[in-house]
Amino acid sequence: MCGIVGYVGNKKATPILINGLVCLEYRGYDSAGIAVLENNKVVVKKDKGRVNNLNSLEGIDTLEGTIGIAHTRWATHGKPSKENSHPHMDNSENFAVVHNGIIENYNELRQFLMEKGYTFLSQTDTEVIPNLIHYYFHNGVHIHEDKFLSAVKAATDDLKGSYAIEVISPMFPDKAIVVRKDSPLVIGKAEGENFIASDIPAILSYTKNFYLLDDKEFAVIYKDAIHFFDDSLIEHNKPVKNIEWDAASVGKDGFEDFMLKEIFEQPNSIRETIGSRFRLGEPCSFDDLEISKEYLSTINKIYIVACGTAMHAGLVGKIALEKLCKIPVTVDIASEFRYRDPLIDNKTLCIYISQSGETADTIAALKLAKSKGAKTLAISNVIGSSITREADYSIYTHAGPEIAVASTKAYTSQVVLLSILAMHFAEILNSVTPEEIEKLKSDILDLPTKIETILENTAEIEEFAKKVYTQKDMFFLGRGVDQTVALEGSLKLKEISYIHSEAYAAGELKHGPIALIENDVTVIGIMTDSSLVEKSISNLQEVITRGAKTLVVTNQVLPNAHFDFVVTIPETNPLISPILSVVPLQLLSYYISKNKGLDVDKPRNLAKSVTVE
Ligand code: AGP
Repeated sequence: MCGIVGYVGNKKATPILINGLVCLEYRGYDSAGIAVLENNKVVVKKDKGRVNNLNSLEGIDTLEGTIGIAHTRWATHGKPSKENSHPHMDNSENFAVVHNGIIENYNELRQFLMEKGYTFLSQTDTEVIPNLIHYYFHNGVHIHEDKFLSAVKAATDDLKGSYAIEVISPMFPDKAIVVRKDSPLVIGKAEGENFIASDIPAILSYTKNFYLLDDKEFAVIYKDAIHFFDDSLIEHNKPVKNIEWDAASVGKDGFEDFMLKEIFEQPNSIRETIGSRFRLGEPCSFDDLEISKEYLSTINKIYIVACGTAMHAGLVGKIALEKLCKIPVTVDIASEFRYRDPLIDNKTLCIYISQSGETADTIAALKLAKSKGAKTLAISNVIGSSITREADYSIYTHAGPEIAVASTKAYTSQVVLLSILAMHFAEILNSVTPEEIEKLKSDILDLPTKIETILENTAEIEEFAKKVYTQKDMFFLGRGVDQTVALEGSLKLKEISYIHSEAYAAGELKHGPIALIENDVTVIGIMTDSSLVEKSISNLQEVITRGAKTLVVTNQVLPNAHFDFVVTIPETNPLISPILSVVPLQLLSYYISKNKGLDVDKPRNLAKSVTVE
């Protein structure tokens, strides 16, 4: 959701900026633009549409400037258009700004500036920012000797909402200024050149040394120096972080799409998630988590809060935590949790799951729990992401960068990590027998090989996708843990194939949804729990009788069933069976989307990380 790139160095900025924007395309956007300092002026090139279109804009190939900022916009205020694309400039064209986030009080600020004689070219909230900087540059009290920095600080003091901002000015041709609040921004440090981006993969091919900017922290970036300032513009030092991901892991590696690559990476991403967190015969251990028995014994309730796929992982985690730790767990959607005054206190542990670690609702929900005295634990895939910096404890999935908008490997790693966490808590609390935990450990260790088996034969799923890709509606049914996978399968399908789908607990069918079943409607049944399989078969028979086309994902031998397709997956512990049963569903959505000729990795209207409410 909106992407930012910046460059301050000796090389031509334009190709670096455009290359960075290409790497951020997965975040979702509808317009793109760059601004480069050139012959004492700012030159802006922007338009709606794809980043690649920028290359054909007149004069872009002759830009020589070595300092620039760039942006992909995901429309919030004002439709996608050239005028609404970033960068935006102030009326004097002395300050160019790109912005990620939402300025909630922009109407009020616009009014203020219009009264001072400023005019506006766009409908965006962002355009107030360069004009405010201009206003304070000429009228403000300069609390720092750097007048440019003082003006940026004064302007951001007026902003309510979220922002990651880059500013350049031809009056200061050797630097860029950046600041952020509730929106991600990283700075990459290299020899004689520095990079700015919304996230690490955009600039990973240039450096592995990063600074993760904190909320309300400013950075003044030169080609050979970076100065950091707090919200009072007092300068401070900041440690540089070395990131282990390599640029190759952000490429497609011969796969047609990132999503397919990420589906196939799951055996390995699960191995990475397990890492050294447990071995057979030894208790689980988390290098990054120190939770005492005393504290855990006081916990009488756990909340798991997240959005979308991460929330679906939480639903699986709930089953493992309750079964192994005997603590009641409530799973909540972050955007609901944050506004409904949940009953939490210092005896509640709140777990937040976020692949990106930047989801605005999840971060806000975490802050709420903290303010009510609960301890917070973040599960994220991105080291140093905003959520991990807010939480009391943070643990990482180590799934590697996930680029496709539709989450796949992050989900399976989140479920694995939640299961290990549940075992770890159960060992501390002594709440189940060591044998039970030992069995689960062995089942988790077997998961990568079992996923490899599923991935070896995708032909059946491809064939089924060919038969059903023109459908308008699909249903996903399951009982118990399979119901959570039904939800995830249905979400995947909606996201990338634009087919309307619903997920139901199979037993709910008769209470309404069965009215929608008619000839040729596709119903997908997930049946991995032997204790519930007979009941699920009955539910599927009911839809077959009404003419539905059925696909069943199961690890059971099904008696006398009349399903159109059956995908058999290896058996495992029911607590972790979603890690296997989700794989055919991920593949099904993928192949349906391909059959429809859609952009699998960048589905319409969606963003990889939803950094605004
Ligand atoms: C998953 O396929 C979706 N793109 C989406 O539901 C996602 O899981 C959700 O936005 C949460 O993202 P996060 O894990 O980065 O917080």
